[in-house]
Amino acid sequence: MTMDAADEVIETVHRDLWRSAEEAARAIISSTDIVVATHIDADGISAGAIASGALRRLGREHKVLFFKKLDEEAIESIRTEKPDLVWYTDLGSGSISKLGDILTVISDHHVPEPGHATGSKNGQAKLFDFSSVIQVNPQSHGMSGANDLSGAGATFLVALALSKKNIDLAHLAVVGSVGDLQDQKSRRLIGLNRSMISAAVSAGMLDAFEDLRLFGRETRPVYRMLEYASDPFLPGITGNEQGAIGFILEHDIEPKEGETWKSWSMLTQAERDKLISGLREHLRLKGRKMETIQRLTGEVYVLKKEAGGSPVRDAKEFATLLNACGRHGSAETGLEICLGDRGDVLARGLMLLRDHRSALSQAIEYAKSIGIVRLRNIQYFDAGDEIEETIVGTVAGMLLGDAGSDRTAPMVAFADSMDSANEIKTKASARGTQDLVARGMDLSVAIRAAAEKVGGVGGGHNIAAGATIPASRKEDFLKELDTIVEMQLTSKVRP
Ligand code: C5P
Ligand code: C5P
Ligand code: ZN
Repeated sequence: MTMDAADEVIETVHRDLWRSAEEAARAIISSTDIVVATHIDADGISAGAIASGALRRLGREHKVLFFKKLDEEAIESIRTEKPDLVWYTDLGSGSISKLGDILTVISDHHVPEPGHATGSKNGQAKLFDFSSVIQVNPQSHGMSGANDLSGAGATFLVALALSKKNIDLAHLAVVGSVGDLQDQKSRRLIGLNRSMISAAVSAGMLDAFEDLRLFGRETRPVYRMLEYASDPFLPGITGNEQGAIGFILEHDIEPKEGETWKSWSMLTQAERDKLISGLREHLRLKGRKMETIQRLTGEVYVLKKEAGGSPVRDAKEFATLLNACGRHGSAETGLEICLGDRGDVLARGLMLLRDHRSALSQAIEYAKSIGIVRLRNIQYFDAGDEIEETIVGTVAGMLLGDAGSDRTAPMVAFADSMDSANEIKTKASARGTQDLVARGMDLSVAIRAAAEKVGGVGGGHNIAAGATIPASRKEDFLKELDTIVEMQLTSKVRP
């Protein structure tokens, strides 16, 4: 039965993309000493776990290395391992020309370095510019790396090409995509991500259904989930504990079971329906637009084998836990959780999650205290050494999503970043909105060009991108970025 399910998934994959996954699988099978190199965020950890799980099944020796970014130092540290194959997951496409001559598999969804993947719009793929590099990237086959497939999803395709049994890793591809906010645009995962969902459902690991989309379905008391709502903002409830509790009571719902506050997942279907209708009505009475009201609900993803109330049962909560691990120096903990370790490992993850939450809230306070500077087409803040470079992008995204924020310009955030020679560089992170992307903005292109202009490197996606630049060139970088974004937004040619 599992075999049929895998074949059904394979049927949905663009033929050239699937061929590249099969070619990657052949290279992996013929190698004995493999290094997996991946990104430290939720998608990167999920991708690394899929690769590691598939290699364990294959009985291949391997090491998983985690990187904040793929610079020369990172590539050199991989080289010193002397592997016969490097498998880059959730990174690599942006730096193909720098990877050297080791046999290389890349399963990624970042915008490829110019000249290293063509045919992005019409499906005409010319993938292998370097004979030793096999690249599996949806961007090279007319799909969007921001919405249609994540790094974990691209890695899952290689895993499936290695063995159809690896269909039991598909839920991790869903966690990776949700971690990269790929469900944001349509309130559900779209594109080839749908096949990841089908695979995970067939493997008996996942349930996908329509529900309230707010964060914390399993682990937060319902009133906290409502109180922390930001997309959409709930007037009189968001940021108002008494307002949130009052709202639940007004709808005749008992918020506690004994001494325990109930989570959303503990409510009956009838209670959930009642609260969702109540929230819709509440927003309607406050004059909110239909589009805003619609954002209340969407598809949610539940890892059905995990215990109720567990931080790894809801895909969004799982991804946040992984981000907490990776962005605070313990990506290995996240990887072990992905591969099924619980107990002490999960407890360590939960400690990191607490640190992550407090680091984020302090960082947001700090950014607000120094103020956001508005240029013509972008806005920015410079956190210096007050915010870690690993979370400054998340902070930029959260500030852009805040109620009352200016959503007409992308948010750029700077943080100090130490390189290997202990020299201070600047990390730049940028986050945009779907609206700006629809108007022609592409942060991946803009950041890459602006960074290169000032002697730095950058890349990413149209809606979110990052760079490392010389600390002395921030002003020039901003000026350049401002001009490029203006050109993108005013150009008659739409992507
Ligand atoms: O490196 P990677 O592709 O995994 O990271 C994608 C980044 O883009 C994530 O940090 C994610 O939060 C961000 N993103 C975003 N808004 C979106 C889609 C992605 O901020 N709509
Ligand atoms: O680091 P940050 O979260 O801001 O990254 C946003 C997106 O840009 C991620 O997809 C990340 O992998 C990508 N990025 C990149 N090159 C860099 C920095 C970030 O491709 N130098
Ligand atoms: Zn990713």
